[in-house]
Amino acid sequence: MAKARCFTAFLLISSLFLAPYFSISEADSSAPIESGLSWTFYESSCPKVESIIRKQLKKVFKKDIGQAAGLLRLHFHDCFVQGCDGSVLLDGSASGPSEQDAPPNLSLRATAFEIIDDLRERVHKECGRVVSCSDILALAARDSVYLSGGPDYDVPLGRRDGLTFATRNVTLQNLPPPTDNADAILSSLATKKFDPTDVVALSGGHTIGISHCSSFTNRLYPTQDPNMDKTFANNLKGICPAANSTNTTVLDIRSPDKFDNKYYVDLMNRQGLFTSDQDLYTNSKTRGIVTSFAVNETLFFEKFVLSMLKMGQLSVLTGKKGEIRANCSIRNPDNKLYLASVVEEEVEEEAWSEF
Ligand code: HEM
Repeated sequence: MAKARCFTAFLLISSLFLAPYFSISEADSSAPIESGLSWTFYESSCPKVESIIRKQLKKVFKKDIGQAAGLLRLHFHDCFVQGCDGSVLLDGSASGPSEQDAPPNLSLRATAFEIIDDLRERVHKECGRVVSCSDILALAARDSVYLSGGPDYDVPLGRRDGLTFATRNVTLQNLPPPTDNADAILSSLATKKFDPTDVVALSGGHTIGISHCSSFTNRLYPTQDPNMDKTFANNLKGICPAANSTNTTVLDIRSPDKFDNKYYVDLMNRQGLFTSDQDLYTNSKTRGIVTSFAVNETLFFEKFVLSMLKMGQLSVLTGKKGEIRANCSIRNPDNKLYLASVVEEEVEEEAWSEF
């Protein structure tokens, strides 16, 4: 009896200590996983992949926690355009400008691309070329959330890297602009099977990171958005004195570097930065969800993880599709598509040399 009481006390005390570290394991999550992905994909081929990434990102974030936001956004931009296939990581080629050159991607952090390829180099040094850039990006996004104070969660792995990137138009069609209202965001994300709870939860990614003035000055000039708190608007006008100012400001004024539910508290105080953020509180379809996350951080973390798992599996390439890139920004030179174009080029060159 005394033993049982002792154990209960131990559980109570340990749960008090463990409470701040929210963690969802594969067993807790009811999210179905895409065929070809697995929770244990690199168990024998690269068992240390997750620890290598986490250890290195801890170092990176110690120097600059802002990099976490850059990595989280990069994963979102990868997955929404052509699926989570690392296509956003590819440099442009002779065949045309890359996804990176499309307007929504111009404000992605150059350092985020460098961090991913540095992680790729570390992982490939340990295991050989077995882990894809798209999996590394999905793990880096998860660690960005966790190491900024958010939930920890398991990521199903086995994505392969795509051989092509999307055009400018396809990129624009798949990444909604910050000037969209909630109805536009809801219908855009519904095409990817995200419901209103997913939309509100994923928008919570704006609890960390920064934005350039140009993404929200439409709410300040020529007329001030009546849905924006007046003091907040005046402070923003100080940071962005004109519509085309190139300065930046934080997305979540209450705790800009911490992954928490304060973004929703901002929205309830009309201190959301983008129309696409603030309108989630104005629109009756999403207002209640915003409030529920503002008052219950655990609920937000739970829903965010489920939506991230959904986002992280959009149109993934698995099995024999795609490839494992040896350099995240370039398609492998030994790829068949590449060989085909080399052969064509050689034939053309021969034709030219006849003259
Ligand atoms: C729902 C539609 C969304 C829109 C319209 C949107 C729009 C934007 C814009 C305009 C910026 C600032 C770009 C700049 O001016 O520098 C930004 C930043 C950011 N977004 Fe979103 N976003 C959306 C969804 C998401 C999602 C789903 C996530 C992740 C789960 C996310 C994570 C971030 C992060 C972390 C930043 C800060 C990046 C940094 O500091 O480098 N966003 N977003």
